[in-house]
Amino acid sequence: MLTQAENELMCRVGPGTAMGATIRRYWLPALASSELPDPGGDPVHVELLGEHFVAFRDTEGKVGLLDENCCHRGASLLLGRVEGCGIRCIYHGWKFAVDGKVLETPNVADDKFKDRIRARAYPVREVAGLIWTYLGPPDLQPAVPEWPWHGLSSSHVLVTVHKLGCNFVQVLEGLVDSSHLGILHNNGLRASRQSDLTYATKVATMQFDLAPRIEEEATEFGFHYAALRAGRASGTMAVRITAFVMPCIVLNPNSDVATLVMPENDESCRFFHVWWDAARPIGEEPLRTETLRFVGLDDDSMRAFGIAPDSKSEDSPTRQNRFHQDRSSIRDGGSFSGIAGLIEEDVAASVSGGAIRDRTKEMLSIADLAVGRLFRVYLESARRAARGEAPIGLAPGANLSRVRGVSGEIAIGGDWRALVPEHRQPAA
Ligand code: FES
Ligand SMILES: [Fe+2]
Repeated sequence: MLTQAENELMCRVGPGTAMGATIRRYWLPALASSELPDPGGDPVHVELLGEHFVAFRDTEGKVGLLDENCCHRGASLLLGRVEGCGIRCIYHGWKFAVDGKVLETPNVADDKFKDRIRARAYPVREVAGLIWTYLGPPDLQPAVPEWPWHGLSSSHVLVTVHKLGCNFVQVLEGLVDSSHLGILHNNGLRASRQSDLTYATKVATMQFDLAPRIEEEATEFGFHYAALRAGRASGTMAVRITAFVMPCIVLNPNSDVATLVMPENDESCRFFHVWWDAARPIGEEPLRTETLRFVGLDDDSMRAFGIAPDSKSEDSPTRQNRFHQDRSSIRDGGSFSGIAGLIEEDVAASVSGGAIRDRTKEMLSIADLAVGRLFRVYLESARRAARGEAPIGLAPGANLSRVRGVSGEIAIGGDWRALVPEHRQPAA
């Protein structure tokens, strides 16, 4: 349970807030490469942390991220024309390169004028299907972390994005909450017994123990926790270790999927999945669609549930439409949740708590140990940022790379930390 002030501190991310300042200190997932497919294609609107930007890919393929409103007199660059190595505002024709350099100001006779000004542009790195940006103070810009899927070719990485109409923390708390898996996702786990998909086989055992023991621990990157269930062989424990990396990344114990939740503003966020498979071409058909269908992230499922990036707000799951739940499928025993799709079940559970969930009334249990740790990591980071200190994960010497989610078996009484020797404790 948090106080109202703590909840506000943790959830508000706009300019001028402590949590907003915290999150701006890291490299952030801005959009999927697939959302800007073609060099010279149409610019797209991007909302991050309550601020509006325009992203475009110039004709050389380079990605730019600029303030949405033109630095001249504020027209939206969403209306802009992507021409050669820049984007041209249609109001007075000023043209900007991906780095904010002003290339042309055709309504100003002085040709030197453009050299004295610059548009606000943000650093961008495009790696393995995701476009990352950094919105913080330039002198504090950290190195781009090395994630486990970096270095794989596009056919071995699968990136998806969907949107949710709620605060980012309540999405992340669902991602560090092993105990809902066997209950909310009962339908999907039953289906996993019939599926050969790698993802399905890795989650199939969870349905046999609905109350795993949770152990958690602070790390230099955030925290990790283990869900411990009875192992297959006697005398063993099955362990699923999840890593939460500041500010918004969860590495799943399956070791081949990461989830990234990026706040658009206080009351909406975008959720990226990254699957990777060095051996099999998960980014290509038929594996791509099979994987997406299993979790409910194929285009048809996302559209039906109103969570596709371009879905209309009236189609999104809300109390008015009962979060798209099918009560008849509950009555006839066909479905536990009444919601088709693993991801859709998560979305319904997250958004049904309200735009910003009231944590002054919650009743956390022993099953919620990792959720409590998530809150403490966020609050501590926000407090450090407010004091002008580096937030968790960015302390000198800390390393956001080399982090893994892992599952395995240990002897009863053994230490699950031995499965993740590269996860270091925070410096005292
Ligand atoms: S407002 Fe963009 S060029 Fe004038
Ligand atoms: Fe879930």
